[in-house]
Formats: sequence, structure tokens, C-alpha cells
Amino acid sequence: MTANRSFFAFYSRQPCHFSYLCGMKVTQDILFAQDAATALTEWLTQQQYDRLFVLTDETTGRLCLPMLHLDEAQPITIAAGDVNKSLESLSGVWQALSDGKATRKSMLINLGGGMVTDLGGFAAATFKRGIRFVNVPTTLLAQVDASVGGKTGINFNGLKNEVGTFQTAALVIISTSFLQTLDGPNLCSGYAEMLKHGLISDVDHWSQLMQFDLDHPDLPTLQQLVRRSIEVKEDIVRQDPHEAGIRKALNFGHTLGHALESLAMETGHPVLHGYAVAWGMIGELYESCVRKGFPQDKMRQTVSFIREHYGEMPLDCKQYDRILELMKHDKKNVGGQILCTLLSDIGQLHINEPLSKEDIFGMLDFLREG
Ligand code: GLY
Repeated sequence: MTANRSFFAFYSRQPCHFSYLCGMKVTQDILFAQDAATALTEWLTQQQYDRLFVLTDETTGRLCLPMLHLDEAQPITIAAGDVNKSLESLSGVWQALSDGKATRKSMLINLGGGMVTDLGGFAAATFKRGIRFVNVPTTLLAQVDASVGGKTGINFNGLKNEVGTFQTAALVIISTSFLQTLDGPNLCSGYAEMLKHGLISDVDHWSQLMQFDLDHPDLPTLQQLVRRSIEVKEDIVRQDPHEAGIRKALNFGHTLGHALESLAMETGHPVLHGYAVAWGMIGELYESCVRKGFPQDKMRQTVSFIREHYGEMPLDCKQYDRILELMKHDKKNVGGQILCTLLSDIGQLHINEPLSKEDIFGMLDFLREG
């Protein structure tokens, strides 16, 4: 198949001294394509591999796999949903690779949301000590976060992403064609991570994000914003691939957000990840204002945007102690101290900021009452 070059362009082919650290590749090539099938087929013709596998969940297997025309690939399907990001599913993928006679020269395509790219990346990173893999993320959340940056893994022992590796994909293909059918809540969920990237990068990007009409999304504009968003993440990952320091900025909004996500799950009203992160950012922006002098007008503007598009987190002050408990289990804590990232302005980062019980209760009051 011949590729029409006008349909796509390479975004990230970094010089070796940036994309390699201690011999390990820390960023991956990212291909922005309107037509993921053409982009992938052309890329595959330039690669050497003996067998090709494609991992999907039941949903992306039905809806997205036919779009890729990957007739030569052996399909592997896992059940959909984060609950299946498990050792059992991982073992199923290893088994399928083994049954399909995968060798170290085989290639795995991960087609799906963050659950598929995380689990598939981990399966590929560990099978025969590592085979190459390509991520084709089909949700906005996976495009701007999970599929880039090299984090792979599964949930274990009731803990999210408890077991995994850092392993970069050989290629990530970002195609807005998958976003055409994405529902509003899933679009908002991914957009929360983009808002985070705006807040931790620069005012221009943040204000573009504030102006975007999330209710009537214009796909070409969204594609430009996604491109910039990924660039923000890549820039940070390149500096700190293993999250020893500055990469912790990517957790802005997540220290509180993860606890809110767990609370919502416990109380039988689960919320999409990005909603919890958006509400977490309200609390962490408030704390940034109080402690670091983050400008109030930018805080108010961001909080209004979040309240308008994500609604309110249903929260009762009787739940504060439980939220505190959940935050104490964050794997980024050190010596029992709850830590988060705060901002003194857009792009002005302060990592490893300790949060006391009083700080957290203040953040929750603000989240609840505004
Ligand atoms: N999702 C945050 C990171 O990749 O570091």
C-alpha cells in the first residue's frame, strides 16, 4: 500500500543525545496520522519482524481493529475494563504470544485505551525479555497520557499499576479518527490530562485550552492541542524518564484526584479518571494559591472551566477522613508523608510538597464550597 505523505507527519524524531539516556531509549517516535491504517502499514513495511500480533479489548477489537486492515496480524483479545488490567489477562496475552509462536523478533500492536496500552506494553516488555511494540491509542486519555512516556503495567493486590516496567514503544500512532466516535464524558476525561499539561507548561498553551469549545469539539483544533500536549509530556519524560524528580509534575491533580477516584469507586458511584483528576486539580490549585501565591485570576478561570464541564464532585465532610486515609496509600508518598506538586504560576513547578491533614481538609472545603 502506498502512503499519502500529506496525510501524516513525523512529530518526534529527537536527536540521539536527547532520546537516549544510559543507552535506554526514553522517548518514542510519534506519528500523527488522520488515517492510522495507512500510517501503520507504511511503517510496518520498513520494519523487520517475523510475526505480528495485535492486542485489543473486546470493544476495540470490534470497533477499531477492522479500521486497521491488519490481515497478517494474529489477534489477541482481552476483556474490557480496568478490572481486567490483571495478572490473569497478562498471563492470557503471554499464552497467546506463546501459542502463536512469537519470538524475540515478533512485534505486538496495542490497539485500545490506556488499559490495553499499559498491559500490552508490559506483556511485550517481559515476553522473552522483551519484544517490540507499537501503541495505537483509541481514547483521548490514552493519546495524551498512557500511550506515551514508557510506563507499562498491571493492577495487583487491589492496587493500581502496582507491577510494571518502564519500556518505550517503538512507535505511537496518534489519530483523531478514533476520537470522532468518542463520547462526551470520555473526551472530557482525556481533556483533564491536557489541562494538567497546560497548567504545568506555559500560559499560551493553557489559554488555548481554556478557549477550546469542549461541548462542540473541532477535531483539527483538538489535534493541534493534542500535539502540543504530548510535546509537554515528552519534554518532561526526556528529562526524567524514571520519575526521580521533575516527572512528578505529571502527577499534578492526581494526589487528591486518585483518592477521589477510589472514594467514588468505594461508594458505588465510579467516575472516569479524568473527572477525578479535574476535581483533584481544583484542590491542588487552591493549595497552590494559598501556599505558593499562584495567581487567583488564573485559578478562578481554571476552576470555572472545570466546574462547567465536569460538574461537582458529590462530597460530604464526613468523607474527609476516608479521603485522608486513601491519600496516605499513594505510592508517591515518602516516609508516610503525603506529597504533591504545587504551582507558583503556570509552568512554575514545586514537586514533593508535603500536605498536612489541615491542608487537605482546606482543599476539600474549597472543592465542596468553592
Ligand atoms: N501519567 C503520568 C506519567 O506518565 O508520568
